[in-house]
Amino acid sequence: MLKLTGSLLLFLAAANSAFAGVCPNPPIPTLDINGIPADVCIPAGFKDLTIDFFDDYSWRAFLADVKPRTPHGPLEFETYHPLWEVFHEDGSAPSLAASANACSAKTAPGDVVLASFSGFHDIGQAADGSLLGPLVAQNGRYVRYLTGYNEIAYQHILKNKWYLRSNLPEVPVPRPPVPPVQLPDGAVIVKSAWVEMTGFSEARRKRFYTRTAIVKDPDTGKCSAQVVGLVGLHIVQKTPSRPQWIWSSFEQVDSVPPAEPGTSGPFTFHDGAATPMPATNPLNLVPLAKQPATPYNVVRSPKSPIHPQTAGTNHKYRELLAGSVWQNYQLVMTQWPLAPGDQSLPVAASQAGDIFETFPGEGATSAFANMTMETFNQSRPAQGCMNCHNRARLTADFMWSVVMHAYPAKIVLPAPAK
Ligand code: HEC
Repeated sequence: MLKLTGSLLLFLAAANSAFAGVCPNPPIPTLDINGIPADVCIPAGFKDLTIDFFDDYSWRAFLADVKPRTPHGPLEFETYHPLWEVFHEDGSAPSLAASANACSAKTAPGDVVLASFSGFHDIGQAADGSLLGPLVAQNGRYVRYLTGYNEIAYQHILKNKWYLRSNLPEVPVPRPPVPPVQLPDGAVIVKSAWVEMTGFSEARRKRFYTRTAIVKDPDTGKCSAQVVGLVGLHIVQKTPSRPQWIWSSFEQVDSVPPAEPGTSGPFTFHDGAATPMPATNPLNLVPLAKQPATPYNVVRSPKSPIHPQTAGTNHKYRELLAGSVWQNYQLVMTQWPLAPGDQSLPVAASQAGDIFETFPGEGATSAFANMTMETFNQSRPAQGCMNCHNRARLTADFMWSVVMHAYPAKIVLPAPAK
């Protein structure tokens, strides 16, 4: 029988921990970030709930995406290709020409245009293939949404001309196990949510990542430079181990009560009084009320609070970020596809992204929606990220924006005002 000497044992232990060191358990929070991690890092053989590993991945993805490309330059995600560059109302090829955006603005990479030709497509909240009523901040300004595609996603859409509906392959009958349309691993798509900082005190503004954007007034159609604050960010990445994408979502922390320690409000989406959040959105998308619009109170559903383990990871990262504006942002949730057994193994691309095969899944007791983007989708777990995007799985690899905006666009609008 082989007898291991002390030094050999030490050597083996070191080699083993060097290997395990690739995916430490628990994960080690860091600000030393060089790009979005290629994948989630889960120790081999790990069979329990992987939430800490996915949440750590999400924070690293976030920090990579909010890092400036060059000192004082735009943030990584701001350099992504905006929806208006990719999809044009006349089906023309992607371009950053001024005529492609609804402000006719000449832009440089990293500039942000918050506008749509209709005046409301950048304001409607997302439903399954359709748009819903808007979210209005306490200052009467609508929240604006912007989707951006990283270079890998953009080049793939460009090469396949998926901005034209006629090039999106038909979904065969019977339905295939794997989407006929696949974006490559490393494709990252973000959806950001912004609010004009009008009426925010200097002290409050400092708690947001702010920048100047070209914003179109949906009522007058006029565009102007406005200081906007980032209130929410969705990040999704297609990875080798998770071909159903990994779904991460962040919010600025002053959105709704309770107040952050050391602050007393006011909140971006709550007036601090006792008026409850309405059960359904009282505002119409069409016709859209003029700004300042009448705000309603928003709360995080007590039935789906941020998962305690996610809150723990947030605490660690926010502590590391002390002194930076990013300490005022938090991960709301990571959603990911689940298959039984060793969680470090890749999930088959044939697995769907429905509620039964994802975390937090059916009967969720923790958050599955971002208050700034799916404000009224906080009560039914079936309305979580993946279950809703799963309906776009076979047509466009989960990406609703491609399904809706490929020319000719197919966007269902809410019924007109009652
Ligand atoms: C009820 C359905 C629904 C839910 C729930 C939902 N989304 Fe979406 N999402 C959409 C639609 C529809 C769009 C496209 C809107 C558009 O382009 O006009 C979209 C767009 C996006 C985009 C831009 C890329 C794309 O698919 O077009 C990302 C990223 C995204 N959502 C992430 C998330 C995350 C993360 C969550 C959960 C926190 C989430 N979504 C929840 C419907 C939904």
